[in-house]
Amino acid sequence: MSPARITVNWKHTILYLTLIISLIYSIETLISHKLQVNHNQIRLKRSPNLPLRFRDDGTFKILQVADMHFGMGSITRCRDVTDAEYGYCSDLNTTQFLRRMIEAERPDLIAFTGDNIFGSSTTDAAESLLQAIGPAIEYGIPWAAILGNHDQESTMNRAELMTFLSLMDFSVSQINPPLQDGSERGALRSIDGFGNYRLRVHGAPGSVLSNSTVFDLFFLDSGDRETVQGRRTYGWIKDSQLSWLQDASKQIFYHDYTKHGLNQNMGNVPSNPDPALAFFHIPIPEVRDLWYTPFIGQFQEGVACSIVQSGVLSTFLSMGNVKAAFIGHDHVNDFCGNLKGVWFCYGGGFGYHAYGRRNWHRRSRLIEAKLGKGKDTWTGVQRIKTWKRLDDGDLCKIDEQVLWEASYSFLK
Ligand SMILES: *[C@@H]1O[C@H](CO)[C@@H](O)[C@H](O)[C@H]1NC(C)=O
Ligand SMILES: *[C@@H]1O[C@H](CO)[C@@H](O)[C@H](O)[C@H]1NC(C)=O
Repeated sequence: MSPARITVNWKHTILYLTLIISLIYSIETLISHKLQVNHNQIRLKRSPNLPLRFRDDGTFKILQVADMHFGMGSITRCRDVTDAEYGYCSDLNTTQFLRRMIEAERPDLIAFTGDNIFGSSTTDAAESLLQAIGPAIEYGIPWAAILGNHDQESTMNRAELMTFLSLMDFSVSQINPPLQDGSERGALRSIDGFGNYRLRVHGAPGSVLSNSTVFDLFFLDSGDRETVQGRRTYGWIKDSQLSWLQDASKQIFYHDYTKHGLNQNMGNVPSNPDPALAFFHIPIPEVRDLWYTPFIGQFQEGVACSIVQSGVLSTFLSMGNVKAAFIGHDHVNDFCGNLKGVWFCYGGGFGYHAYGRRNWHRRSRLIEAKLGKGKDTWTGVQRIKTWKRLDDGDLCKIDEQVLWEASYSFLK
């Protein structure tokens, strides 16, 4: 090829390139926004930093939000407030309460324990959930939800609700546990209900247990309503769910602090297996017996449970590590009581569209686990405390109590 011909080709190439670049530029600036639906780009779920873990100060705090009964926002009126309050009260007060609780307590996890939305007061379950859970997402706090007996009463069934909840931003909710043998990737274990899952919390960053589970959280679906021998009753936790719990508890370890020569810097270490907590909506029948015990908090209404006694308490007892269960459903009960060494604590009604009691503030429960301190590192969980805050002007803190403390053995 002659030098002249090469120059011509070279000039053509430059021309073509310029043309192509200007075309791309025009498309990008002039019409690209028209190619997007509602000007929003499709985006993936925003996930929280996982695994969940204790903070540098050795604490992990959970905010329990029970029975929001969310409807459609500003047009959904409050129930059981005074006549003076009624005119200025809607679902937005529930949202405001959740924001105030997050600001005041800065929880590491929010547990929504069912009846998050009130099906018959909304025409769009997804919209209602997005609004109800909204503040958790605004603040970027990991959150876990389970279902109550009212969530499925509008446009989504329980399977759809749990799927949606698991896909929302910052959610750590899961539909059900994965198959154990892992033979079918992504397959779910066949188990009754939707929203049975386990969350493991790792030790503090930089500590010897930073890559180990030190705290276990079990979320369970207690169902909605069923008919048993012709009688209408509430749902209950089924055998398949209990046997999953049993299996899961076999994977609970005692930390072997003597391994890796760790005992030199551990000092006193817990001799218990890691503690676990359970979260579900409908109380178990034995909660009624707490009336005759020294419970902490208020017991103001009958325990609305199933007529079926499926052995939840005996399962917890045989697992050995479940120290407390957090329930909802009965909004004006907010007590903790102890059944054979396991605490059962009501969250107390949170939502303004839920039934409640006039002049009895909406409320919510906090749970805080604190790690033990070894000679120069955080160890496993040493203590679990709980308290409540009222939605009064000051978010008054009440009924603080210790639920569990580790017993210690000295390693030489
Ligand atoms: C509901 O929120 C409004 C607006 O912030 C407030 O004026 C009202 O007192 C709240 N009602 C209750 C019962 O908290
Ligand atoms: C935890 O895992 C990280 C990343 O794999 C590693 O750098 C760190 O040393 C591990 N810490 C402990 C205490 O095992």
